[in-house]
This record gives sequence, C-alpha cells and structure tokens, in this order.
Amino acid sequence: MSETRVAVIGAGTMGSQIAQQIALHGISVALVDEQPEQLERALTTNRKHLQRRVDKGTMTPLQFDDALARVEPMNDLATAVTGATLVIEAIVEDLGSKQALFQQLDELTGSETMLATNTSSMTVTQIASVIKNRGRAIAVHFFNPVLVMQLVEIAPAPFTRPEIVQRAVAFVEAIDRTPVVLDMEIEGLLANRIIAAIRREAFWLVEQGYATPEAIDRAVQLGLRHPMGPFELADFNGLDVVLAIQQRRYERTGDEMDRPPKRLEALVAGGKLGRKSGEGFYSYDDSRDRAT
Ligand code: NAI
Repeated sequence: MSETRVAVIGAGTMGSQIAQQIALHGISVALVDEQPEQLERALTTNRKHLQRRVDKGTMTPLQFDDALARVEPMNDLATAVTGATLVIEAIVEDLGSKQALFQQLDELTGSETMLATNTSSMTVTQIASVIKNRGRAIAVHFFNPVLVMQLVEIAPAPFTRPEIVQRAVAFVEAIDRTPVVLDMEIEGLLANRIIAAIRREAFWLVEQGYATPEAIDRAVQLGLRHPMGPFELADFNGLDVVLAIQQRRYERTGDEMDRPPKRLEALVAGGKLGRKSGEGFYSYDDSRDRAT
C-alpha cells in the first residue's frame, strides 16, 4: 500500500520541511499547527527554499506552484487527518504532549492509518503505549534540514506490526530519502547517539584544557573527514538545545563525563546560542558564514 494522503502535525523547523519534501513527490499533505502564525511562517520559508531551486534552474515554475499547492495548512486536527493513510507527528519534544496527541489520533483515524513520530530522544514505546491500536505506530526520524538531508531513521517498537515497517520504508523511498531501519528501538536512534558520543569527548577535552574548540574542530574535519567539527555543529544545532540534552543525560547517568561543560553553560547564560543568535563557540557575521 502506498501513502496517498499524509497529515503532518507540527509546522516548526521539522514539520514544515517534512510536509514540503512529501509534497515534492506528488502526495497531498495537510500541515497542522496549533499556532496559526507557525503555519504562515512554514509556508513562507518553504516558498523561499523552493524559489532558490527555480532560480538555480533545478525546478520549473510549474513544479514550484504544484509543490507549494500540495501542502494544505490547517488548524483543525480532525479535518486534517480525515482520509490520511499516514500521520507524522512533529510537535514539541515533550512526552505528555506527544502521548496526548497520539491518543487523539487513535480516536480520529482508522486502524490502517500509520502513525509516525519524528521524535529525537524518545521511543515509540514511551509515546504510543498509551493508545489502543498501537501496532501501527513507528518512529520515522528525519534530519534537519529535511529538504537537504538524505537520511531517515526508522525504528519500530516491539509492538509495531511488520507491515508497518515495510510501509514506512516504501514511503521514505517514495519521497526520495534513504531509510535506515533499526532492529531494536533506542532513545536518540543512531546518528544522534554517535554525535552525542563525539560531542561528549570533545567537550571533556576542552573542559580539561587539552585543546581549544578550534583545534578539535580542525582535527575532526581533516582527520575524520567530517564536514563540520563538534563545536561548529553544536553552534548549528543551537547551544540551548545542546545544553538541555546534555543536562538531561547528566541527570540520568550522573557520569562526570556527561556534566555540561562550564563554557557551554556560560555561553547559553549570555544569550550566545550559536548560529541563530549570531554567536556561540564561533562568531557569525551573517546567517551562513563563520567569522574567524
Ligand atoms: P519546533 O518547536 O520548531 O516545532 C514544533 C511545532 O509544534 C510548533 O510550531 C508548535 O506550535 C507545534 N505544536 C506543539 N504542540 C502541538 C499540538 N499538540 N498540535 C499541533 N501543533 C503543536 O520543533 P522541531 O524542531 O520542528 O521539532 C519537532 C520534533 O522533531 C521534535 O520531536 C524533535 O525532537 C524532532 N526533531 C527535531 C530536529 C531538529 O533539528 N530541530 C531533528 C530531528 C527531529
């Protein structure tokens, strides 16, 4: 079964681009947010992204109009999910909010509608155990920016039906992304866990005075061929987000290696949140270029 109508819930950083990526492949998408201004912002940003493709000649004006028209902004959840074969949840990373939404979706949709979560740090078991018809729930984890990044991680819970995994894989391929399927679900999935391990070591090295962020970034770029070092990447992700993740981890493990570095805490306390605020571990003189 291929997905014919998709509803994406949450029109923030991820949901807006997930909806656009789907629409680019001829599937109609309802995009829902509880805040109307988020919907407006999502449509404006998507329009800008696609305009760049038209300007570069990689998209025709007809394709541009078609892709934008396929994303239908909506405030009402019940209307948005009517007739949807797949619902993708991309709301705030809060367990209670996600569980409440899944409970609503369980009531509003039929048992064949696949329910996917884009969560970065929770498992499907945590989110969907609260619903009755949980065999259709699965994690389908996109990467930021969705319109550029190829990888989509797929993680079934122990209760997810096997055909739902197959459907998720087929869907991801149909929208020109590359699925990687986990055999067993785990918080943080794969790529983010690996990055967290690198970041943890990098922060520790700086905190202990072994090297500067600049030196470590250069070593990782030139020695490991990563496009960005861990500090530049942290600036890209947002230092407030990185600090919150690190704090949660430290609370859970109590491991000194997980203690948030003082330098990171000081930067966030000073409003230096990375690229989005113009300064973090590095200074940025516009939204793209790194100042030396
Ligand atoms: P965001 O904060 O940019 O957007 C979340 C949106 O959900 C907001 O517009 C908010 O108004 C809306 N919302 C909240 N509760 C809602 C509800 N009950 N019904 C409808 N709309 C609701 O968040 P972002 O960054 O897009 O993250 C969304 C999800 O994607 C999270 O689970 C996050 O962990 C995950 N994720 C985020 C990545 C990132 O780089 N930002 C990367 C991969 C996954």
